[in-house]
Amino acid sequence: MARLGFALLLLFSSLPLLAVSKSTIEPCSGSDTCNALLGYTLFTDLKVSEVAALFQADPIAILTANSIDISIPDVENHILPSGLFLKIPTLCSCSDGIRKSISTRYKTRPADTLASIANSIYGGLVSADQIKDANSISDPAVIDVGQNLVIPLPCTCFNSTDNFLPAVYLSYVVQADDTVPAIAARYFTTVTDIMNVNAMGSPSVRAGDILAIPLPACASSFPRFASDNGLIVANGSYAISASHCVQCSCGPGNLNLYCTPASLAVSCSSMQCRNSNLMLGNVTSQQTSAGCNVTSCTYGGFVNGTILTVLSRSLQPRCPGVHQFPVLIPPPTTVIHESFLAPSPSPSSFQSGGPVTTPSSNPAGTFSLPGVSPGPAGSTSMASSYINSLFHYLSVQVLFGAIVLLL
Ligand SMILES: *[C@@H]1O[C@H](CO)[C@@H](O)[C@H](O)[C@H]1NC(C)=O
Ligand SMILES: *[C@@H]1O[C@H](CO)[C@@H](O)[C@H](O)[C@H]1NC(C)=O
Ligand SMILES: *[C@@H]1O[C@H](CO)[C@@H](O)[C@H](O)[C@H]1NC(C)=O
Ligand SMILES: *[C@@H]1O[C@H](CO)[C@@H](O)[C@H](O)[C@H]1NC(C)=O
Ligand SMILES: *[C@@H]1O[C@H](CO)[C@@H](O)[C@H](O)[C@H]1NC(C)=O
Repeated sequence: MARLGFALLLLFSSLPLLAVSKSTIEPCSGSDTCNALLGYTLFTDLKVSEVAALFQADPIAILTANSIDISIPDVENHILPSGLFLKIPTLCSCSDGIRKSISTRYKTRPADTLASIANSIYGGLVSADQIKDANSISDPAVIDVGQNLVIPLPCTCFNSTDNFLPAVYLSYVVQADDTVPAIAARYFTTVTDIMNVNAMGSPSVRAGDILAIPLPACASSFPRFASDNGLIVANGSYAISASHCVQCSCGPGNLNLYCTPASLAVSCSSMQCRNSNLMLGNVTSQQTSAGCNVTSCTYGGFVNGTILTVLSRSLQPRCPGVHQFPVLIPPPTTVIHESFLAPSPSPSSFQSGGPVTTPSSNPAGTFSLPGVSPGPAGSTSMASSYINSLFHYLSVQVLFGAIVLLL
């Protein structure tokens, strides 16, 4: 088994007979941060900028992480539909010896309860008890309006690798009709891998459990002092970096990070490789008797406002074809629910050429969502808000800890 280190499976529940929510905890030490993704289902229609504000994330980064076209005018004010599933990029910190995202703050509004904040607004990524503990709230029934709450969110990095290959970890809240095989199929991984990563004894999950799902990714190798050190992009998606000047993508053909100038209207420092006329992302190739002489201008990280470029030459057996980009989709306006038996959507046309915009095979403004239960507030969230309301009456929290060494 390739996994190194420990995975700690934490089971916590105040109501063992009704629900046992599990989430995977990664012990850590030091103060390094890493990149992770939060799987978030919109509880209501929200603008892109509103989703970003909920997580204190960059709206453009949210869009690119979901392969949503950012070239549409005023895309940050586009309204995303209730029930849409998004991957939200987050910085995963090391706090109290475990990996978690601690940068999210939520300002309470009238009618908020800890349960509604946890289950609706943050889509079950956090529990009412975790918000209560993180903010030392003594009486959860009394939430002042305008209070700035810390919202601790689950994340894992596991060294940004899975079985020695680059991976970015998605914190996935199990939905009512999810099964591990279906989740594995949806994310192109195996049941065994999900069980190993999450230190599961059996492939069974319950609604509300939070799984760490490894997504194959393209890793960067920027220097430590680069502000985007550790950048990692999931297969089939994009990332924005260098103050919105550089856009990087991963896949579909290979898992080599590919960065080009972003097409957003911002002023940027030079993106030309020194001693050449090549720009970031340019590749020239020349067939020689020995093979293909490939010269490329690649991105080396963002350092003190400067975009580092690297000119590299290599001799390859074959000349590379036109670069293929992951398929971009228009900003979703509706959510399509597919049945479990339907085949996973696979991109049937790939873009080639320009770095950003592309028409795709998807019908305009729709977004495929395999295996998600219909309705914005399905039985899951109703059940868990019922359970969470009972949390108010049960103050004893029972912790079951199991340390599993996976080697
Ligand atoms: C972490 O991953 C890097 C490659 O990304 C590898 O060189 C290193 O050995 C890994 N460390 C551990 C502790 O697994
Ligand atoms: C990356 O995604 C593409 C489809 O988008 C898929 O064909 C390919 O197998 C994936 N690569 C890996 C390593 O998962
Ligand atoms: C080099 O990259 C720039 C920016 O992406 C692009 O506009 C230009 O067409 C590329 N030139 C070549 C020769 O590929
Ligand atoms: C490859 O091309 C570069 C410039 O395009 C040239 O400087 C270099 O000598 C070439 N290498 C070989 C092995 O042909
Ligand atoms: C970045 O700039 C600061 C001062 O502006 C300097 O101290 C630091 O060494 C620079 N870092 C790098 C990597 O150049």
